[in-house]
Amino acid sequence: MDHFLYRDGQLFAEDVPLTEIAATVGTPAYVYSTATLTRHFTLFDEALSWGPHMVCYAMKAASNQAILKTLAELGAGMDVVSGGEYARAKAAGVAGDKIVFSGVGKTEFEIRQALEGGIRQFNVESEPELEAISKVATSLGVTAPVTIRVNPDVDAKTHAKIATGKSENKFGIPIAKARQAYADAAALPGIEVVGIDVHIGSQLTELAPFEAAYNKVAELTEALRADGHDIRRLDLGGGLGIPYTQSNEAPPLPTDYGALIQKTVGHLGCEVEIEPGRLIAGNAGILLSRVIYVKEGEGRNFLILDAAMNDLIRPAMYEAHHDIIPVIEPEPGHERVTYDIVGPVCESGDTFAKGREMPKLKAGDLVAFRSAGAYGAVMSSEYNTRPLVPEVLVKDDQHAVIRQRPTFDEIISRDTIPEWL
Ligand code: LLP
Repeated sequence: MDHFLYRDGQLFAEDVPLTEIAATVGTPAYVYSTATLTRHFTLFDEALSWGPHMVCYAMKAASNQAILKTLAELGAGMDVVSGGEYARAKAAGVAGDKIVFSGVGKTEFEIRQALEGGIRQFNVESEPELEAISKVATSLGVTAPVTIRVNPDVDAKTHAKIATGKSENKFGIPIAKARQAYADAAALPGIEVVGIDVHIGSQLTELAPFEAAYNKVAELTEALRADGHDIRRLDLGGGLGIPYTQSNEAPPLPTDYGALIQKTVGHLGCEVEIEPGRLIAGNAGILLSRVIYVKEGEGRNFLILDAAMNDLIRPAMYEAHHDIIPVIEPEPGHERVTYDIVGPVCESGDTFAKGREMPKLKAGDLVAFRSAGAYGAVMSSEYNTRPLVPEVLVKDDQHAVIRQRPTFDEIISRDTIPEWL
């Protein structure tokens, strides 16, 4: 459920008409709903209320500080994957002891940054990383809390580019080698093993792969405890999928997911962490865009929008589907047309949808890309020197620009021309 609904013949974000945002902020622009962010976070939090837990929002999904602060005020922790994300989370007011640090390539600089600023745990992905953390921690005279990310060799049954839990993926330590890795970790100075971490992929639309992975984690917990490790925290990753179309069979809900976690690992008495990103932010955001031209091609109609692949890369990168709906609600019986929906960027990959049937539109009309809140703005770029797409946060009847659209001068002034040129 989200808070982008038609009312009085037009699409609203909560109590703000999107036409008003288009008029004041311009297009393209991302628009987020506070109520939807809140609702999705709360669903996860409640789904785990049977035991000690922390929902660590995977901020890679949408990392604007206003979004982070909204979630942090509800009690969210953060899952970060870079020094930049760590700094952003801290800037948004998140305490270091609520930040978990994931990622296969943490540098010594990033490890030091997190140890100095405070960290709940590093989710360690390799033996060399363990050694790097030990080295930095001992040089600072501190102890680093760690979990080891295990790769359970489970098929997440999702798009290959976002599956992470198979042995051919670069992530984690093979679960069969985990006991040795934990023994090595325990022997290293400056390291305190606190638990186990697993994350098998993103946009999972069934629970079975989670179940397989979490059962393996439960078994490993018992084996590691028998080896003398104090496994008290399980970070179960993110990955629960969202409905991208209204007709789609609905993926499992956070409630079902929470119940599955209780069933698979609840008996172990561990604190549970999860790292959802997409489910919290995905349907809490839309990309607002305007039709520039309707162009008749040979045997097809092109809808040319002012949003492009640099603003929303998901269709070009993952063949992802986003529903694209008119902001002005079509009257019943409004003519329907089949369009290829494209952006202005100079490559054919700049296509959002092919052969999409939708209500007939004309130049100047506004459209909304639904389910664009996660992996939308964060993956945008200035390709074709198109200004980075702005972001707007709505709460009830208020809206605020939370990232400005840069001016051409701001973009251009970041280049420097060497004096010898
Ligand atoms: N934890 C870790 C360690 C991750 O790598 C990810 C996502 C998450 C949590 C959050 O997963 P989520 O709950 O959002 O599924 N750009 C792609 C998605 C990449 C996901 C990367 N890792 C897309 O647009 O579909």
